[in-house]
Amino acid sequence: MRHPLVIGNWKLNGNKHIVIELIAALRNELSSVVGCDVAIAPPIAYLDLAKHYLGGSRIALGAQNVDTHLSGAFTGEVSAEILKDIGAKYIIIGHSERRTYHKESDDVIAEKFAVLKEAGLIPVLCIGESKVENEAGQTEAVCAHQIDAVLNSLGAKAFENTVIAYEPIWAIGTGKSATPAQAQAVHKFIRDHIAKHDAAIAEQVIIQYGGSVNADNAAELLTQKDIDGALVGSASLKADAFAVVVKAAVQANQD
Ligand code: PGA
Repeated sequence: MRHPLVIGNWKLNGNKHIVIELIAALRNELSSVVGCDVAIAPPIAYLDLAKHYLGGSRIALGAQNVDTHLSGAFTGEVSAEILKDIGAKYIIIGHSERRTYHKESDDVIAEKFAVLKEAGLIPVLCIGESKVENEAGQTEAVCAHQIDAVLNSLGAKAFENTVIAYEPIWAIGTGKSATPAQAQAVHKFIRDHIAKHDAAIAEQVIIQYGGSVNADNAAELLTQKDIDGALVGSASLKADAFAVVVKAAVQANQD
């Protein structure tokens, strides 16, 4: 049985005050909520602060990126070892914003996946198609290609205890999420694709949906069979909205 997982991707937002306030509000909203794993991924400079204020709560710490190198002359980067040292658990890799603005290739993302596994951290591998690819009927081909970069280099077993986030690029930050049926179809495709290599691994891998998830659409999306949680961007900056998403994940798992 897969356990739902909701992660807040704060992206490049916040300051010390906001980190402290938002965590306090989240702790309050989620104090009695069980049945869903929850994490927040603040900007890297605030990870230590966030870890401190999350202390004693069930909310885990995530990060938004990692370098492929473990140490050395790589100015401006952060390693898996440092993220582990600081207490992060879930590390987002391959987000479309990094693929687009930082030209990250599938090969580099597969390397990041490998260093995270090696460090005992949990990769959250983001995949998804653009609007043009979607309209050209290439959604499945794009997702398969992005997953194959990891499957072909590391094998299906590498997906044990990891997370995939299906995030159609056209749905990110647009307020226009995929419909539950659309998302479910792609999630099933992703799981079946991995199952061709290893059915047991495919059955346990957590596949989150991301892209304009909010308090209004979460319940419908999360009740889909192959949607195991959500990667939430803008709605994760509001404690009440994020809590609704988490509670929807708990509810969906009970139905
Ligand atoms: P959004 O972002 O919820 O603001 O669409 C999701 C993401 O990019 O992870």
